[in-house]
Amino acid sequence: MRFPKGGSLILFATALQYILAVDAIPRPPLSWAEASEKASTFVSQLTTVEKVGLVTGAYGSGLLPCVGTIAPIERLGFDGLCLSDGPAGVARSDGVSVFASGITVAATWDRRLMYERGLALGQEFRAKGSHVLLGPSAGPMGRHARGGRNWEGFGPDPYLAGVAMSESVSGIQAAGVQTVSKHYIGNEQETQRVNSTRDDGTIIEAISANIDDRTLHELYLWPFANAVHAGTSSVMCGYNRVNGSYSCANSEILRKVLKEELAFPGYIVSDWDATHSTEDTANAGLDMEMPGNSTVSGTYYFGDSLIQAINAGRVSMVRLDDMARRVMVPYFRLGQDVGFPTPDPSSGALLVTYTYGRGSPLSSLYPEVPARDVRGNHARGIRELGAAGTVLLKNVNGALPLTNETSFAVFGNDAPDPTLGSVYLVYGDDAVGNEMGTLDIGGGSGTVRHTNLVSPLEAIRKKVTSIGGRLQWLFDNKEIADGRFRSIYPVPQVCLLFLKAFATEGIDRADIDFQWNATMAVESTAELCPNTIVVTHSPGVALMPWAENENVTAILAAHYPGEETGNSLADVLWGVVEPSGRLPYTIPRAASHYGPPLVELPEPVTDPNAWQADFVEGQMIDYRHFDANVGLEPLYEFGFGLSYTSFEMGQALHVELVGGPLEPVADHSKGTAPGGLIDLWSTVAVVTVNVTNSGHRKGSAVLQLYISLPEDTTPAGTPVKVLRGFEKVVLKVDETRKVKFKLLRRDLSYWDVVNKQWIIPKGPIRFMAGFSSRDIRASSELTV
Ligand code: BGC
Repeated sequence: MRFPKGGSLILFATALQYILAVDAIPRPPLSWAEASEKASTFVSQLTTVEKVGLVTGAYGSGLLPCVGTIAPIERLGFDGLCLSDGPAGVARSDGVSVFASGITVAATWDRRLMYERGLALGQEFRAKGSHVLLGPSAGPMGRHARGGRNWEGFGPDPYLAGVAMSESVSGIQAAGVQTVSKHYIGNEQETQRVNSTRDDGTIIEAISANIDDRTLHELYLWPFANAVHAGTSSVMCGYNRVNGSYSCANSEILRKVLKEELAFPGYIVSDWDATHSTEDTANAGLDMEMPGNSTVSGTYYFGDSLIQAINAGRVSMVRLDDMARRVMVPYFRLGQDVGFPTPDPSSGALLVTYTYGRGSPLSSLYPEVPARDVRGNHARGIRELGAAGTVLLKNVNGALPLTNETSFAVFGNDAPDPTLGSVYLVYGDDAVGNEMGTLDIGGGSGTVRHTNLVSPLEAIRKKVTSIGGRLQWLFDNKEIADGRFRSIYPVPQVCLLFLKAFATEGIDRADIDFQWNATMAVESTAELCPNTIVVTHSPGVALMPWAENENVTAILAAHYPGEETGNSLADVLWGVVEPSGRLPYTIPRAASHYGPPLVELPEPVTDPNAWQADFVEGQMIDYRHFDANVGLEPLYEFGFGLSYTSFEMGQALHVELVGGPLEPVADHSKGTAPGGLIDLWSTVAVVTVNVTNSGHRKGSAVLQLYISLPEDTTPAGTPVKVLRGFEKVVLKVDETRKVKFKLLRRDLSYWDVVNKQWIIPKGPIRFMAGFSSRDIRASSELTV
């Protein structure tokens, strides 16, 4: 393929594409039925080969330099599809923003910010010409603290993750870009996530997540149901097996649960190379193979093999029509058939560099051209969200916010710019990450290359300079850990120590410690400096054995906040904004306290079926696990986070049933829609509490509503309590606000495995409102 040479032509083309990109405002989505009709008409005009083309992907090439593509059908004016990672920015691109990772988003507990991030993400994908964003992620959820990809998703609580999925899908698709909710399902560990081949040719199968039906419904499926309800275009089946069969060939979870029970009308796409057969997958419900005709793996099962299966009657034409129609429905629904920007030609050069390295023979196919810069003013929202997702875990002696201090030190290898530049954190490369440089995102397909990055050092230096202060620094963790503060004089008033823990796709974390001598670095810094403030960048759960050191006066958990990381943090440190994040997971006192270990088998593994993960703990992960084990005390619990002000909650909690006493089972006569039975999504109760800002500053309270279902009328395995509502409210000093939580039928139900339906149990349900999973301030019981 050819691209224009010559600077002015390139500039003209780039500008034109940019104008097209920002001007082409997507129209509101069509209804599923309208879109389905258009898709059916389209598919009815196709030959078998063309239909198979629609469901068989290819790695990027030609005019579609994307990580996954569907070829155009020119005679019908279909330009093909470009699929790109996701989930926190347009991967393998230039001129894009690095948004906050999922775990930071969850830590905001803020629906508006979740939606706005989604919208901005969608705008960037659209402007780059990517029809499909490979995200958001609700799998892994975080059964294991060591999970390499936990940071991509929204944490281990299904309700919080469900809201984040729903807001993300709505935001991204409001920009006219398709979402692929991933990885369905039980994709909780990276270790043996895919099958492997021994030297003697034996195939050792991928890990099997063995999940009982109730746990599946109430925990791992829950956020996917939200995504379907919000209209996700696609769902990606994962690499792992579920209850013995590969996710992408598992008719129970694909056809029965997703397509029938949740009435999912879009298409199921395989994770990259997660397809292992032709008719088994097509008949189980897989609609699109990726990357299909892949120059990377070379093996694929749709394409010609699918044509043969159709011709031999092993896959019916009805099924192929259904697959092709499902692929086209979201395209028409989101109006991608009209005025969708063409893919940015610069993506080709970046894709080649990313995959094969600079100077590869393929580079000649894609000359470097300036990238279409699609960032707009998104840095502002990224900065806001980064601060809103920062969790203040400790704050003593009035350490924060900073006020009149003038003498500072910035310590730790997580503070400055990465010495390797705008790195691609390629998956599997290095389980520890790069030594020098701040971490604002994890590694693997979910990483995003930085067009811009404001490191903590940069933002803090700017601020300290502006107040006429003094800044010292030491980034070498070994020097710090060894207490060699040779260059530090005088002892600073404030020592800001930055710690990091890297996580990446492809490998689980070796442990859940902060890395690079972090613990020793804290101890030494605290010995030097009685006002040590620790800031952490982690993919989720990480141990803090130094948390109770009295010279550690404040701890801020900033997760992976995206490219404005330094600015978000400076805003919090100096109190321009509050650290209004709350933990979307529990921090244990010891790794062994957290819950089920990863499956790690000693080599050599010879049994092809050896990799089994039995989810015997059922729903008891994270805070549910701590609740179930009386006496097991977390260091910081799910939902916890301090503020610069303080809040009180009234003791009265009112529960009002909408429409009187509730029938135990949903009204089937209301029918189904994406998300399942419509009645499951109707509001059945409203809970009201009062909250007051009792401190001396304006601030955000994060009110959380938990419920306990009755013990006697629910089967064993019911969690002590589960989150079923949250609201973040900004309150002025002394302001009191009435806060309402709306509960859906689904929220008060458990999954009955015998009758395969949701049931509201008989007997009293306890409603509890508070400021964390262990800080309940108001409660009441009601038999619904
Ligand atoms: C990952 C997916 C990703 C895909 C395409 C896979 O290895 O598991 O999350 O979307 O690659 O890059």
